[in-house]
Amino acid sequence: MNEGEAGRPGHSIPPPGSLIDLDDAFASLNLLGESAAFLDALRLVRRLAPSEAPVLLCGETGTGKELAARAIHYLSPRRPGPFIPVNCGAIPDGLVESELFGHARGAFTDAREPRDGFVAQAADGTLFLDELETLSPRGQVALLRFLQDQEYRPVGGERLLIANVRVVGSTNVDLGALVRRGIYREDLVYRLSVLTILLPPLRERGNDVVLLAAAFLNRLCGRYRSAPVHLHPDSVARLLSQRWPGNVRELENLIHRAFLLCEESELRLPLDPPAAGAGPARHEAGLTDRSFREAKASAICAFERAYLAELLRRANGNVSLAARLAGKERSRLGKLLRKHGLTRGADRRHALS
Ligand SMILES: Nc1ncnc2c1ncn2[C@@H]1O[C@H](COP(=O)(O)OP(=O)(O)OP(=O)(O)O)[C@@H](O)[C@H]1O
Ligand SMILES: [Mg+2]
Repeated sequence: MNEGEAGRPGHSIPPPGSLIDLDDAFASLNLLGESAAFLDALRLVRRLAPSEAPVLLCGETGTGKELAARAIHYLSPRRPGPFIPVNCGAIPDGLVESELFGHARGAFTDAREPRDGFVAQAADGTLFLDELETLSPRGQVALLRFLQDQEYRPVGGERLLIANVRVVGSTNVDLGALVRRGIYREDLVYRLSVLTILLPPLRERGNDVVLLAAAFLNRLCGRYRSAPVHLHPDSVARLLSQRWPGNVRELENLIHRAFLLCEESELRLPLDPPAAGAGPARHEAGLTDRSFREAKASAICAFERAYLAELLRRANGNVSLAARLAGKERSRLGKLLRKHGLTRGADRRHALS
């Protein structure tokens, strides 16, 4: 990406030279930022990348955990090898060993051919286990055993194989809290969190929000072959006053939407964007038009719906897993999902599990 257009005199946008690309080796990853909080995380990425130990990337949604995982891979001696991302929530519980470790021919009814699992695919490279909090108890046991001795046996196979794989994991919840609630293995958390990197939320990165917005805008101009479009100063103020619950991804999406709607050479962000709910400048007029009781009921209803939708997304539609993550009985969760008409979002195959 060419950042050359990112800053313009007259706008409080940092000059292009301040954009930070990591080494040439992975400049295409474009991990951008220059705030102290972000640079601390970046320093750790650089420092820990060459090691062989597992790394756990923590941080809210959209803070760049996957980007950091790729950076770790490309800054490590494993760079020529593969980077294999795996979403733990998407692995069906019954198939967790065969997905991770592969299977031998005839291991089960449909296994007509032997198949490599993710571990074998990541040989000499990095296995990125995303959304670790969604790993089932069975998956946790399998992963723990593997991390302990780097050995595995494909399902139905006779020989123990040795893996040459570096594991990098990510989570946007506090795994320690899951351990305290009895739904995550403490020994696995110890294994995974030897080296931990916290990606800070965007609201703690100061001016990075403006720098990132300018860089995204510049990239969009290139992608859509448009004449240069710059951030209007009002937009800069807007960017700095938001809380960004969806972090860099939310910012990227907002800029993309605004860019596509923009007909001028200066981009003004909409005054009341859909994602502005958590912003300090939130418009609260009308809140007191209803009785306290009605307003509270409506807020609770909105919260329940948002929580359940995100929960289902994280659990990949698996209602049993969603119930465990939420610390609720499955039947009670099912009732709530029905109340909000969210049962269709839940995968019926999983819903029966
Ligand atoms: N520092 C950064 N510079 C440039 N782009 C970034 C940065 N951090 C994140 N992004 C972009 O933001 C988006 C979200 O990043 P990413 O997928 O790595 O986040 P995540 O923490 O893995 O999110 P989730 O927890 O939801 O999976 C991606 O499009 C990524 O390219
Ligand atoms: Mg991710």
